[in-house]
Amino acid sequence: MTLAGLAIRRKKADALDRPALLLAWYDRHRRRLPWRAAPGETADPYRVWLSEIMLQQTTVRAVGPYFEKFLARWPDVAAMARASLDDVLRMWAGLGYYSRARNLHACAVAVARDHGGAFPDTEAGLLTLPGVGPYTAAAIAAIAFGRRAMPVDGNIERVVSRLYAVEEALPQAKPRIRELAATLLGPARAGDSAQALMDLGATICTPRKPVCALCPLDEGCAARARGDQETFPRKTPKKIGALRRGAAFVVTRGDQLLVRTRPAKGLLGGMTEVPNSEWLASQEDAAALAQAPAIKGVTRWHRKAGVVTHVFTHFPLELAVFVAQAPPRTRAPKGMRWVRHATLDDEALPNVMRKAIAHGLAE
Ligand code: ADE
Repeated sequence: MTLAGLAIRRKKADALDRPALLLAWYDRHRRRLPWRAAPGETADPYRVWLSEIMLQQTTVRAVGPYFEKFLARWPDVAAMARASLDDVLRMWAGLGYYSRARNLHACAVAVARDHGGAFPDTEAGLLTLPGVGPYTAAAIAAIAFGRRAMPVDGNIERVVSRLYAVEEALPQAKPRIRELAATLLGPARAGDSAQALMDLGATICTPRKPVCALCPLDEGCAARARGDQETFPRKTPKKIGALRRGAAFVVTRGDQLLVRTRPAKGLLGGMTEVPNSEWLASQEDAAALAQAPAIKGVTRWHRKAGVVTHVFTHFPLELAVFVAQAPPRTRAPKGMRWVRHATLDDEALPNVMRKAIAHGLAE
């Protein structure tokens, strides 16, 4: 307990000033993250927006290098608005959930074109931007503009559901948890309050083995008092989609690989892929192989042992990988192209395709 923390507790003998305890903890223990402003400085809305989009469904650790790379290439929103969507998708490759990259670009264009290059500074204004939903609007409004808003992500849901021992299960409990989370905002510094809760959830109030002894809110934590803090938040079991199966076709021509671009709309829209079959529930290898592309000079496919697995939001996928070598100068089938292995990194290749290619090319 810090001196500031003690003073805050004494001031209110019977009611803990949780917002103040939280901020005092944040001032000592905040994580140094590349998108955060130094204490006392105002955050740059562009950096806040870029980081919040990247952090949707992706960990802080994975986002770090991508954030730096994007910022070096496009230092402000006007620069990103001038980039092509292809360039943004290429830089995004590997981060997953690619609709975020398409929305990122569309949002940069909208801010540059419709807002004179400045992000709207209210939740309502931010909500009109592509890719900005209620969570992200609240995060940007609080962190970049000091608006009294509380973005509630999975970390914050966990902290709050423990603090108040919320028995209702997620997702039904979301509105109640949002209300309770808002009570942790003080009169000022909304962005710091939100980020304090995020940090608390990431470092102390962790899903397993929370370190309650180090928590600034431990005194008034209802779940901790009962000793069942690890069992929160309550959750309604999620239905996962049925397993889908298909085949990927890894065709080489010397040091080149046959690829194509996925349709602009839908799952992994606009990304690069190797030719592959439909992905269907309980599809047999033979049925998937029948969808191999017709390539002059390729008569035999070799099925690599094992399968490549990937879990999308709505279903898990299992791909058999078939490989073939095409003779020199073989033309790519319509809609496909040859790319050199050395330049694959410049392609917008989603992780599932990286795995399929690595499996196909492995000795
Ligand atoms: N997750 C989402 N937004 C975040 C932020 N601003 N800081 C840390 N983790 C986050």
